[in-house]
Amino acid sequence: MIDFKEKIAEQISLATNLPKSEIYEYIEVPADSKMGDFAFPCFKLAKELKQAPQVIAENLKNKMSFESGIIKEINIVNGFLNFTIEGTTLTETVLKEINDKEEHYGESNIGNGKNIVIDYSSPNIAKPFHIGHLRSTVIGSALYKIYKKLGYNCIGVNHIGDYGTQFGKLIEGYKRWGSEYHIEDNPIDELTKIYVRINNLCNDDEAVLEQCRNNFKKLEDGDEYCVSVWKKFRELSLKEFQKVYDMLQVEFDSWNGEAFYSDKMQEVIDILQGKNLLVSSEGATIVDLSEQDMPPCIIKKSNGSTTYATRDLSAIMYRARTYDYDKNIYVTSYEQILHFKQVFATAKNLNLEDKYIEGLVHVPFGMVQLKTGKMSTREGNIIKLEELLNEAISRVNKIMQSKSPEMENKEEIAKKIGIGAVIFNDLYNSRIKDEIFDWDTMLNFNGETGPYMQYIYVRTKSLIDKAGYIPKITDVNFTKLEDEASKKVIKQIYNFQDTIKQSADKNEPYIIARYLIGLAQAFSSFYNENKIIGEEQSIQDSRLYLTYATGLVLKIGANLLGIQMPDKM
Ligand code: ARG
Repeated sequence: MIDFKEKIAEQISLATNLPKSEIYEYIEVPADSKMGDFAFPCFKLAKELKQAPQVIAENLKNKMSFESGIIKEINIVNGFLNFTIEGTTLTETVLKEINDKEEHYGESNIGNGKNIVIDYSSPNIAKPFHIGHLRSTVIGSALYKIYKKLGYNCIGVNHIGDYGTQFGKLIEGYKRWGSEYHIEDNPIDELTKIYVRINNLCNDDEAVLEQCRNNFKKLEDGDEYCVSVWKKFRELSLKEFQKVYDMLQVEFDSWNGEAFYSDKMQEVIDILQGKNLLVSSEGATIVDLSEQDMPPCIIKKSNGSTTYATRDLSAIMYRARTYDYDKNIYVTSYEQILHFKQVFATAKNLNLEDKYIEGLVHVPFGMVQLKTGKMSTREGNIIKLEELLNEAISRVNKIMQSKSPEMENKEEIAKKIGIGAVIFNDLYNSRIKDEIFDWDTMLNFNGETGPYMQYIYVRTKSLIDKAGYIPKITDVNFTKLEDEASKKVIKQIYNFQDTIKQSADKNEPYIIARYLIGLAQAFSSFYNENKIIGEEQSIQDSRLYLTYATGLVLKIGANLLGIQMPDKM
């Protein structure tokens, strides 16, 4: 596909001697196409060139020359250079690319040969899979698909929280009262109950606490009973988590959790020790980070057991060696910002190549605020994700029951819409913002929502079906798509790959979510302003092709976010 931005950047770069990549970043697509198809804000160069934007614009305009058939005109407006693409060139470029690439539209090879580890979801066994883990799951899985689309080799890691002193307690509780609980039927709830009970006992009785500590030590040393009970907790928990992953259709390449590193941490300790970085403080072993204005990174607790941070340090070494990563991305709530800062700072001492340190990225996200009142995230009545997703489905089912009672396959469709709505809501804002979880907002078929985007997609499908149309690029007359509304859709489709790149650059799936709403809205205007079926054949075919292209891009984009498209709704 012709990269118009690239062509423009090339000319500006030649004229100014500034790097093309820098110029490329500055080129915009104006919202109002009266301002041209692409715009260059000259003020961005004012400092470097020591000239006023207006002067830069005039100089550039005189110096630039394009091969024929690309740029029709260049206008200067308020220090911006506005470029208008020649006639149908843009339309032709976009639709031919759609025709060539079909479901591969938007793919790129910029990531070829590069490995990206994405650590996401990572719930803790024997504890509820809570709404914060849902965010991590949804954001991480979207990033996985986005990077993959750009050609990166992605490794999705579920760094399960399956280790730590709490398991010593759980083992003790199970040993005492295991037979009273039905952990096979309802593992997470029952294990939580056992945990609360043993914890209370520990608070009252120091001797029990000592036994718990012992259990963890025994677990670390491979004691048969402790290991077998721990394995059971792990398996039952994972089975439970899998239900949610199945509903969300989320997958992982590795399930190496914290326990996986139990025999690999000594290396970390030895290296830090060898560099004299380990200090003992109040019985614990720490790395002092006061020079970086941070509290210390705790490597061993006062009872000698290793920590969450030690396991993360060990995981960094393992991932560097095993995956030779370019980026190692962690998706967690912002509550862990300090943890990762400490871990990344400490990792600098592990004798790893610089690229592995530079590749460490924490991708934090905000909390979930449930507007429904009855659910709380932080403590107390924690909601179960499986129930939450089922509620989304049943709410959609009800809406559909009243809207189109005779529709077939309602269950299947409601699943795609309900789960899609939850995912979309999760991804629609910059991730660091707290998310508002409100059923009415996310299930509004006319809002900026998943269901709206799906609805427009279904619209494109039904138009094509109704016309019995089979998309053929040879039937398209590009001059029939010159109206403002058509052009808006075409430009939006043109911007798809750039949108994916931006989303990956910033690790922000919302950029794609917003793009999709923009495309759905542009199509909606196109559809309202243009008659499609019943028009003269070449107009009808051209408009139907654009309809097909829109549906295709909506679907590819939704799938990147982890959302499935229904065929009907
Ligand atoms: N299990 C942790 C939690 O639930 C998240 C783990 C994130 N990944 C990591 N490598 N630390 O908070």
